[in-house]
Amino acid sequence: MNSNSIDYPPSRRNIILVGFMGTGKTVTGRVLAEQTGLELVDMDSIIEERAGRAISEIFETDGEAAFRAMERELVQELSQREGLIVSTGGGIVLNPDNISDFEKTGLVVCLKASPEMIFQRVEKDTTRPLLAGDKKAQIASILEARNSLYNAIAHGVETDGLTAEETAKPILTLYALES
Ligand code: S3P
Repeated sequence: MNSNSIDYPPSRRNIILVGFMGTGKTVTGRVLAEQTGLELVDMDSIIEERAGRAISEIFETDGEAAFRAMERELVQELSQREGLIVSTGGGIVLNPDNISDFEKTGLVVCLKASPEMIFQRVEKDTTRPLLAGDKKAQIASILEARNSLYNAIAHGVETDGLTAEETAKPILTLYALES
């Protein structure tokens, strides 16, 4: 236990982490799950498990639209549950209904990072279909296309230079306040 810890979750409301690829949703989700005792669910992992295929294969064989439909269906399912820390895929903001559904039962927080920090975190990654090819260029163009969507989320945390624990701290404070 440290000073960030809360002994019991103050409510069963979900915490939903959104944000661009490489902003730390998964690692921050792990810390939040440890500190609240809530269950961590990772949307990409659930989709892969249910489809029996990697995200890159889904993109390749069925196309991005099919993947977005799987995401949409999973958002509808998860937003009806409680007591979850949800780590979403970076494209969840593309459909505003995803955010409004999640907001009905949880606190939605957007993790943010500079393009340089994102590049450092995903440089060696080969699993993200949207970053195939020139990663720096892909990051810049997708960020530009999506930034207004990420900025529209009511709560945001700048993660550059922060550890997952440091990123989790203001989220826990907000969660306790809002519960
Ligand atoms: C995507 C982000 C990925 C994954 C898929 C598409 C996106 O998740 O859902 O490759 O559109 O930003 P992470 O944000 O966990 O990398």
